[in-house]
Amino acid sequence: MLRTHNCGELRLTHINTSVTICGWVQRTRDIGHLIFADIRDKYGITQITAIEGTSKPEIQEQLRKLGRETVVKIIGKVSERSSKNPNIPTGDIEILVEEIEILNTSKVPPFLIEDETDGGDELRMEYRYLDLRRNPVRKNIELRHQMNRATRQFLDDLGFIDIETPVLIKSTPEGARDFVVPSRMNQGEFYALPQSPQTFKQILMVAGFDRYYQIVKCFRDEDLRADRQPEFTQIDCEMSFITQEDILNTFEGLIRHLFSQVKKYELPEVPRMTYDDAMRFYGSDKPDTRFEMKFVELNELTKGKSFLVFEEAELIVGICATNCASYTRKQIDELTDFIKRPQIGAKGLVYVRCELDGTFKSSVDKFYSSEDLQKIATKMNAKAGDLLLILSGESHKVRKQLSELRLEMGNKLGLRDKNKFAALWVLDFPLLEYSEEDNRFYAMHHPFTAPKPEDEILLQDEKRWGDIRANAYDMVINGTEVGGGSIRIYQRPLQEKMLGILGFSPEEAKAQFGFLMEAFEFGAPPHGGIAFGFDRLCSIFGGADSIRDFIAFPKNNSGRDMMIKSPSPIAQAQLDELSLNITKK
Ligand code: AMO
Repeated sequence: MLRTHNCGELRLTHINTSVTICGWVQRTRDIGHLIFADIRDKYGITQITAIEGTSKPEIQEQLRKLGRETVVKIIGKVSERSSKNPNIPTGDIEILVEEIEILNTSKVPPFLIEDETDGGDELRMEYRYLDLRRNPVRKNIELRHQMNRATRQFLDDLGFIDIETPVLIKSTPEGARDFVVPSRMNQGEFYALPQSPQTFKQILMVAGFDRYYQIVKCFRDEDLRADRQPEFTQIDCEMSFITQEDILNTFEGLIRHLFSQVKKYELPEVPRMTYDDAMRFYGSDKPDTRFEMKFVELNELTKGKSFLVFEEAELIVGICATNCASYTRKQIDELTDFIKRPQIGAKGLVYVRCELDGTFKSSVDKFYSSEDLQKIATKMNAKAGDLLLILSGESHKVRKQLSELRLEMGNKLGLRDKNKFAALWVLDFPLLEYSEEDNRFYAMHHPFTAPKPEDEILLQDEKRWGDIRANAYDMVINGTEVGGGSIRIYQRPLQEKMLGILGFSPEEAKAQFGFLMEAFEFGAPPHGGIAFGFDRLCSIFGGADSIRDFIAFPKNNSGRDMMIKSPSPIAQAQLDELSLNITKK
């Protein structure tokens, strides 16, 4: 080894020891008779010093000239510092330099390599290796490693085995858009990168592996957001001979194990809620349950009072913001502007202030008497000092809008603490979702999800397809969908029926999924599984909003890798070899 110690290791117990450390020069300070430098590696920072009169003049000169991020090897003696730095573990000592070897020089880095940096997002992504040198970024990647280890440990102990599935697979029309790869040996034909190993893990169950897992890259060509990357990682799992209850218990176990191992946090038993209740009480299938603020439906109390907006509305629904009656006109106007933004699209906001003196002040005083408002307040469990915020309109839309407002109020009231964790199972999702635009049903989870046995009968009645519930479940933590799965169809006739409902002709179904349906005919066991978004879990554990910070080499919002500059054009010869005729837009 080039070094005897790392930069985070030396303490008072090492005083007078001769040591060698290696690392990067974080900064130097020259105060005339004393020259200091901070040497950094992933373990910490150690101060090195040259003193006029004690250290050799050439050492002082060398130290003075060290540029930021130069890679050095320092030989010297550990000494007690006269002015200690209680903020770092090595703050009691310094190394009196006897020899400096420059292992490599560095250009001036384009941004500060410190915990707080001055570099913008794009620049930091372009020089990702420099960003990764910074503590907060490196710690995220280390957290990811711990999560990976703890996951493997838990699943290995339960007898799950890790099996790799192929990355060059077949494009299917369901789900998100595929990334495709042209085949040179089969001109005009394409592989697709997997959006998930779904069908392969089911085939592994048919093959009798019983318990499978894989921490696996998945690829989806969709619009990007803070919690979405075109390539991301799943903890993908499948089990045979189980019920939904077994899956929920096993994977609740995994999540609690991760919290306890990695965060030293004992996550309480994960509550369960049906999809219908999640929509009714939170207007979202991924509610943030760190705080209550449940929806209260007010049709009965608000209709028939000549307030046209409510008269015409399908649903009138509100939330109660505790202790917010003191909100000023300006604050309420800001909330109105918030819900009127095009992304949310509400037309207006009705408020009722429950004043401390027991009176009410509302934006609809003309239509509602004090008694009317009292009734509304009682129904909403409001007390003096609270503010009621009410929206109205078409049920589906208004629930979505109020959900956004609820989250905004949660932010404003500091109810979305990143150090608090609220997990939730959302169950009984609809099997199918109708798209007015495409005039057809889509699988809400995926085409391999089984209906609830008691709802299977509804498959025979086209008018009832939208009512069929699936044996499907999502895990939500702090308002983020961290995982989802289902009990699968494992018999050919039901799978054929399902694909038919999704608009596949028998020929198309056979061409796309014939291999799976044929496998079902060779003794497929009942099975089910789940996949967790590994990047999302890491970002929640790390208390961050964006998954990007937990991926060593992420892509930006246009799907670009700024460091390697990808995607990029390829040579004409390469295109010709693949028979790709591309004209640039
Ligand atoms: P699903 O499509 O719900 O299920 O994906 C599982 C989980 O993966 C995460 N996720 C993503 N994370 C980052 N970027 C993305 N673009 C992205 N897309 C999804 C989410 C999600 O909950 N094969 C099924 C699972 C199963 O049925 O077993 C599947 O892929 O956290």
